Amino acid sequence: MTNRKGIILAGGSGTRLYPITIGVSKQLLPIYDKPMIYYPLTVLMLAGIREICVITTPHDQDQFKRTLGDGSQWGIELTYITQPSPDGLAQAYLLAEDFLDGAPSAMVLGDNIFFGHGLPEMLEQAGRQTGGGTVFGYHVADPERYGVVAFDSAGNVTEIVEKPPVPPSNYAVTGLYFLDGSAPQRAREVKPSDRGELEITTLLESYLHDGLLSVKRMGRGYAWLDTGTHASLLDAGNFVRTLTERQGQQVGSPDEIAFQMGWITKEALLDRAKVFAKNGYGAYLEALAMGRG
Ligand code: G1P
Repeated sequence: MTNRKGIILAGGSGTRLYPITIGVSKQLLPIYDKPMIYYPLTVLMLAGIREICVITTPHDQDQFKRTLGDGSQWGIELTYITQPSPDGLAQAYLLAEDFLDGAPSAMVLGDNIFFGHGLPEMLEQAGRQTGGGTVFGYHVADPERYGVVAFDSAGNVTEIVEKPPVPPSNYAVTGLYFLDGSAPQRAREVKPSDRGELEITTLLESYLHDGLLSVKRMGRGYAWLDTGTHASLLDAGNFVRTLTERQGQQVGSPDEIAFQMGWITKEALLDRAKVFAKNGYGAYLEALAMGRG
């Protein structure tokens, strides 16, 4: 049992996806058969984290509460925090400081989707590290859109740069950050960037500067999917659909993971199955509870 707490950052106005995000938060849009936020939520659950805060804009909070509830259906505890204005990812640590109460954390961005064999082990390993931070570098075709890792000739990380016009490598830093209890304190030292945001990369630089940052490469066998454009949003949905239909297994199901982790009983899972009695998800959960999964 970990004392690491989770943060899902699901604020922002999603303007790049207008008009679909005018009335609905981006992180609640469907990725095939589930709300987008289910995928990052299950990443934290796979890391063994049961105390999680969800950071949203003030006006979207009710929708998130309706979608996720208090977490008890999955044997976890969800706390909601509002981000009055989107002033950067590092701000999440200031907003969550009381919630964290000195504990180490894993923060995941509410629009980041990860999939891959070995993901639970990778998460578990990152979660076990006690001091400093762990982030993941992933090879992408368009690194200039992300925080990018610079390596020296020996492969050591020298720098992490936010959206560099000339990227020093193809390795983007994914939106999943395992940081120790000093993150809120370090976040207070972060000054706004030229675009006026408290950049996560500046916070990571603070760990790097102290020799406390480990950057793990997430290999090509993993999928880290983008949902930032209309096309990539649809692609992510199709990716999940392809896997789900081919394997007959769910991607990003908090119900399944809660049951596998032993956080909910068979009876509780059967109760959940009844909620979804009108579609295949209900039948899937029932089969799982009955040992036919
Ligand atoms: C943010 C971070 C960036 C990171 C990315 C991952 O960018 O600032 O360092 O690589 O998330 O999704 P944003 O999506 O806010 O532009």
